[in-house]
Amino acid sequence: MCGIVGYIGKREAYPILIKGLHRLEYRGYDSAGVAIISKEMRLNVLKAQGKVSDLENAAQGKDTCGSLGIAHTRWATHGIPSQVNAHPHLSQSGEITLVHNGIIENYATLRAQLLSKGYTFKSQTDTEVLVQLIEYIQKKHHINLTTAVRIALNKVIGAYAIVVIDSKEPDLLVVARKSSPLVIGVGEGNNEFFVGSDASPIAEYTKKMIYLKDDEVAELTRGEEVKITTLNNDKVDICIQNVEMDLGQLDKSGYAHFMLKEIFDQPDCITDCMRGRLLLEYKKIVLSAITDYRDRLLSAKRFIIVSCGTSWHAGLIGKQLIEEFCRIPVHVEYASEFRYRNPVIFSNDVVIAISQSGETADTLAAIELAKKHGAMVFGVVNAVGSSIARNTDTGIYTHVGPEIGVASTKAFTGQVTVLTLLASALAKEMNRIDDEYFTSIINELSAIPDKMRLVLQKNDEIEVLSKIFTYAHNFLYLGRGWNYPVALEGALKLKEISYIHAEGYPAAEMKHGPIALVDSEMPVVFIAPHHELYKKIISNMQEVKARNGNIIAIVTEGDTEVKQIAKTVIEIPNTLPCLTPLLTSIPLQLLAYHVAVQKGLNVDQPRNLAKSVTVE
Ligand code: F6R
Repeated sequence: MCGIVGYIGKREAYPILIKGLHRLEYRGYDSAGVAIISKEMRLNVLKAQGKVSDLENAAQGKDTCGSLGIAHTRWATHGIPSQVNAHPHLSQSGEITLVHNGIIENYATLRAQLLSKGYTFKSQTDTEVLVQLIEYIQKKHHINLTTAVRIALNKVIGAYAIVVIDSKEPDLLVVARKSSPLVIGVGEGNNEFFVGSDASPIAEYTKKMIYLKDDEVAELTRGEEVKITTLNNDKVDICIQNVEMDLGQLDKSGYAHFMLKEIFDQPDCITDCMRGRLLLEYKKIVLSAITDYRDRLLSAKRFIIVSCGTSWHAGLIGKQLIEEFCRIPVHVEYASEFRYRNPVIFSNDVVIAISQSGETADTLAAIELAKKHGAMVFGVVNAVGSSIARNTDTGIYTHVGPEIGVASTKAFTGQVTVLTLLASALAKEMNRIDDEYFTSIINELSAIPDKMRLVLQKNDEIEVLSKIFTYAHNFLYLGRGWNYPVALEGALKLKEISYIHAEGYPAAEMKHGPIALVDSEMPVVFIAPHHELYKKIISNMQEVKARNGNIIAIVTEGDTEVKQIAKTVIEIPNTLPCLTPLLTSIPLQLLAYHVAVQKGLNVDQPRNLAKSVTVE
C-alpha cells in the first residue's frame, strides 16, 4: 500500500527520496511523486502514474535540488490511479504540500465546506482536502504550519500518516499519525532527519528510530531536537529505539524475484525463527512470552486467533496445533469480520493476532476490540517494532526478516513454526502432551530446515510442470486435516500472482459442490502426505480421477499408492503429520511462482495488491 519517505538535512534530498521509494516498491502502488523545497524557497512537485522509474524519467532535466523533501508511492483508494491523483498534493496557493497514507473518512463534508470558502480541487482524492484544510486554517488564523496541522487534524475522522512541508518555513518538516504507521529516523547531531512509512527506506542512514504513536505530531527542524506533541499540544516524551535491519534482505541477491529468493530463504529463516527458542540439546522450548505470562496463558479457557489472508491460513493450522496439543478450544476469525460482528469475548480469553507486516488495519482494530473486553492479546508478528507488535501485551516475533514479495511465503512458514513452538511449549507447561511426542516434535522441528532444502531441490521439476498449466483458467486445491489450510494457501498463492482462478477446499467437502467443476481440463492439486487422513484422501482422489481430473499430488517420499492415481506427484521428505504444512506449502509456492513467471507477470508486485494493507 502507499509508502512515505521524507528528508530534512544538509544532503540533497532527491536521491534519498528516490532510493527510499524504490525500497518501498514492494508494498504495491500505482503512481509516485516527490516534492522538494529549493534553497531559494521554491517548492517543486513532480508526479507520475506508474512506477518510480517513470517518476525518475519525468524528473529528467527538472529542478530537483534542495535538502528538504517528501515523496510517496500511492495505492489508489479515492480516485483512479493517475498523475493528478498521485501525491504530494498542493494547497491552493502552492505553498504547502503533503503526502498521506490512510483514509480521511469525512473528506466529503470537509470538501463541501472548503468549496463554500472558495477552494477548488484538482484531484479526486481525500488527501487534497486535507492540504487545503491546513492552508485554510493557517491563513484564517495567521498561524504557523504545525499549529495549522494540529487544528486541521482535530477536524479529521479517519486514518492518516502525513508529512507536510511549507515553502514559507523551509527548515521544517511536520509529521503526524493516527492508525497508520510512521517512523522517524534521527541522523547525526540533529542535523538531519528521515521519515518512512516503515523503517526500510531509512534504515541505511540511521539505526536511531522513533515510532510515532497515534494522535502525535512531530516537528523536525534542521539543527534542533525532535519535538513531539499530542493533537492537544501536550508535550510527549521521546523514545528513541535502536532498530537493526539486515539490508541484505532488501535486495534480490541474484534471484530473479524477491518471491523466489524468499521461498529459497525459508530453511535459514526457520532456523532463525527457532534460534534460542528450540533447545535441541536440552529437549526444551523456551519462549519468554510464556515465562512472563505463564499464569495468564495457562488459565485461558479459550484462544481466539484474528488475522487476514495468508496469516489467517497460518491461524487455521495454529488452531489445530493448540487444540491437538493443549486441548483448549480455539476460534479462528477473519479480523475484518470479527471487528464488526459484536463477538463474544471473555476477559479470560487469549486473542492471538497474527501478522507479517504488523500494520494490517483490520487486525489492529480486532486487537483494540479484544482489549476493550479485557482479553489478553498475544502477537505473532514479523515486522519488529510494528504497530501490532507494540499494541499487543506480549508475543513472539517470527524473525524471518523483511518480506518484500507481495505474496507471502517465508512469513507463512515462520508463523506456522512459531505457532508450533507456542502450542508445544504451552502443552508442556499444562502437562497435556506426553514426553515422547514432545521430544519427537522437537527433533523433527529441528530437522525441518534441512528437509525444506530437499523440497527446494524440486524447483526445476516444478518449473517444467508449471509450463503445462500456464493456460489453465481454474485450479482446485484439496487437502485434509493439517493440510486443508495448505490447500487454501496454495490456491491463494496461485490466484494472487498468476491471476488464475483457484479454490482451496477440504477434500471431502468437494462432493458437496466443487466436484461439478471437475473435467479433463481441471487441474486438481491434492496435498496428500502421509498423515492420519491419508487413506481418506486417496478415496477423494479416486473420485476426481473418475471424472478425468488432472491430478497433481504432493506426497511423502516413497509413496506408491498415489502414484497409481495422480498424473504428477511431487515428493516431500517424511515428517510428523503436524509438521507437514511446513514442507507441503513449498511446492505450492514454487508452482504459483513458475506459472506466474511463465505468464510474464509481475510476480513481486501483482496487480491491485498491496504488501501492507493499512486501510480497512
Ligand atoms: C497473501 C498475503 C496477504 C496477507 C494479508 C495479511 O500472500 O500476503 O493475504 O497475508 O494481507 O497481512 P499481514 O500478515 O501483514 O497482516
